[in-house]
Parts: sequence; structure tokens; C-alpha cells
Amino acid sequence: MKTQVAIIGAGPSGLLLGQLLAKQGIDNVIVERVSGEYVLGRIRAGVLEQGMVDLLREAGVSERMDREGEVHTGVELAFNDKRVRIALDELTGGDTVMVYGQTEVTRDLMDARKEAGLTTVYEASNVQLHDVKTDAPYVTFEKDGEQVRLECDYIAGCDGFHGVSRQTIPDEVKTEHERVYPFGWLGLLSDTKPCHEELIYCKTDRGFALASMRSPTRSRYYIQVPLTDKVEDWSDDAFWTELKRRLPADVAATMETGPSIEKSIAPLRSFVCEPMQYGNMFLVGDAAHIVPPTGAKGLNLAASDVATLYKIMTRVYKDGDKDCVMQYSEICLRRVWHGERFSWWMTNMMHDFGEVEVNGTDSQTFSRFMESELNFYTDNEQGRRVIAMQYVGLPYEDIK
Ligand code: APR
Ligand code: PHB
Repeated sequence: MKTQVAIIGAGPSGLLLGQLLAKQGIDNVIVERVSGEYVLGRIRAGVLEQGMVDLLREAGVSERMDREGEVHTGVELAFNDKRVRIALDELTGGDTVMVYGQTEVTRDLMDARKEAGLTTVYEASNVQLHDVKTDAPYVTFEKDGEQVRLECDYIAGCDGFHGVSRQTIPDEVKTEHERVYPFGWLGLLSDTKPCHEELIYCKTDRGFALASMRSPTRSRYYIQVPLTDKVEDWSDDAFWTELKRRLPADVAATMETGPSIEKSIAPLRSFVCEPMQYGNMFLVGDAAHIVPPTGAKGLNLAASDVATLYKIMTRVYKDGDKDCVMQYSEICLRRVWHGERFSWWMTNMMHDFGEVEVNGTDSQTFSRFMESELNFYTDNEQGRRVIAMQYVGLPYEDIK
């Protein structure tokens, strides 16, 4: 097999990149480890920055999002028995976010790729990257018992945190930055009416909670839990009872509950691999970086990586400018670190660290610092603007 860009992974990063490259006539093949159904079964985030919305429109896969997605002009932070609304549009000169599930984004991208007749190899095993430092890299994998060799010009490692692409960068070349948080998020999806028309991020002495949604009839909720908890420890009733204790009382009093469609615990981690490229291999999205979901940045940072690589590949194949590929990692990392810091900051401010020492500070003192931070930034318009600018997403950087 031969293509121009080999894409490892059919998650949002790989599918969005593949769709955009195809729009420019750049041939690409996606090699995915699991089935398409398995990819669609993953329940992930649901808040899209304007940059990602624009990319999906440019890729020609925004029709259902524009029909079914909800434009949100604000989010709420609830703490110390008060609720502060961050008026995103007023504070940023009109920017908003789109609430539309990542599963739906992935489904739309899969459907568009199939309709365009583009090649996606699902259930490929033993995927390996070769000769990435040469002008003739290639990928090998096994499919239906056959060993396949995919020759290409470039490889996009869109294979997530547990993928194979990042391992291609030698240890002596890469630096991995990591912060693992001492708690996780127990998430529940239910076909119930959302408890509020906007998202509510709640900080309580029982721990963090988030009320989100997927549609007017489907809700997504999270509560902070200890890392020692297992999802089987939590019945639906136990979840609803605890969630109601962490949401604002008036919201909890009227919220609709129901059976869980999905329930799972996710660990929280900040992670960045530097650099994000090695030879003609480029790390994209979760393959290069992970954020705690408190800032709704995971999918959106993947989108800005895709935008940068898409611009670079277009410059290479349309203008014959191969040197521009060297800009990729530096441009991506500038925006990635802003997203990492915002997500780390929001996680520190909104969660209960219990008795855990943080950055050499005892938990009680750290908690006082964070309480002051949250009050300071929400008590005045400039502070709320700092939160709003980052929540809607900082601008994408152009290639030189
Ligand atoms: N070979 C081929 N495919 C692989 C391999 C491999 N060795 N390892 C992993 N994959 C596939 C996974 O099965 C998955 O479908 O790569 C894909 C990576 O997708 P994601 O993990 O979703 O990462 P990404 O596409 O960058 O999307 C980032 O998705 O998971 C969320 O929180 C994340 O919101 C963020 C967004
Ligand atoms: C979600 O709806 O799943 C969601 C929304 C906002 C976040 C995290 C998750 O910050």
C-alpha cells in the first residue's frame, strides 16, 4: 500500500486530519487498532471551541452539529453557596462554545470518510512505524492474518496516550512532563433533562462536581472520587444522591434522575511530550498531551494540532515547501501549554485535595490559596474575562 500521509488512529484527531487533507487532494490512509464500533463506544467530552467548530465546517462535516449542537454563551462556577456566571460572549467580544458530544463528532467524521471512499483499516494489529527519520517512512501492521506495509511521505501519530507513535521518539530526544492528580472523575450519562441550561462546575467540601449535557434530553454528570474507588462501588442511586449534595440546592431540588446509560471513572493527568515531532512523524492530540477535563481542552487541543499539521501539509503538497514541517512542534506546543496550564489551574481551584500536600504546601494552606484565587478571579470582570478567554479557546497560530 502507498499513500502520502499515513495516519495512525481513527479517533477525532485522525479522522479530522484525514478529512481536511482529503479536501486538499492529499491522499491519506488511517490505520486503527480497534473497530469503528469500539471507537464510537467511547464516551468523552462535549464542549467545542469556536476553532474546532470552524475546522469541522471547513472539513464539510458540520451539518448535524449546526442542527443539533447547542451554542452556549456562558458557564457557571458554583462555590461557597454562590454561583458566578462567566458570560463568555460578553467578556470575549462575542465568542461562544458549542455543546456537541465528541461521539457525535466522531460519528460525523466516520460517515464523511466512508462517503468519500477514503481508506480506513480498522482492527489492525502490531502497528509499527519505520524509518521516520528518512524521506521514505513506512508503517507495518497485520490485518486478517496478513502482514501489510504502508509506504508514505509523512506519518501522523493520532493514536492517543497509549499509542505506539510517541514511543518512536527516542528517550534521549524527548522530554515527558507529567502531573497525576490524587483523584478521578466518576462520570454518568443518562437520558434525563439537563438540570440547568448551562454547564455548572461545582467546588464543595465534599469534592468537585460538574453538570453538563449532550442534548435537551441527555445529561452528562461527573463527581470527583478517590483514586481507590471502583465504578462498581457506585450504584446509580448512590451517584445521584452524592451529585445532589454537591450541586446548588435549588438545582438539586428539581433535577431529573434516571438509569445510567454509561458510568465510568477516569483518572486525571496533565501530560506533555516535547517535541511533538521526530523526522517525518508528527504527534497529534492525546498522543502528545493529556489534560484534566476541568477546562474542556482535550478535544480542542487535538483540534488545534490538526489545524497546524493540515496547514503545513497543504503548504508541502501545494507549494512544494518541505522546510515548513519544522514549525509544527513549536507552534503546537505554545497553544498546548496554555491549555495545559488553564486545565491545571481550574483543577487546582475547583477540587478538594483532602490531606494531600500540593507543591510542598500542606493541604489546608493550599486550600486557602485556591479559595482566594477563585474569589479573586470571579469577583471582578477582568478576572472573569481571563477565565472566559481561555474557556472559549485562545486563537490558533498561523504557520510562517
Ligand atoms: N495502532 C493504531 N491505532 C491505535 C494504536 C495503535 N498502536 N493505539 C491507539 N490507537 C487508536 C485508539 O484505538 C484510538 O481510536 O488511536 C485512537 C486515538 O484516539 P483518542 O485516544 O481519542 O485520541 P485523539 O484522537 O487525539 O482525540 C483526543 O479524544 O479521547 C479523547 O480525551 C481525548 O478529547 C480527547 C480526544
Ligand atoms: C462533558 O460534557 O463531558 C464535559 C464538559 C465540560 C468539561 C468536561 C466534560 O470541562
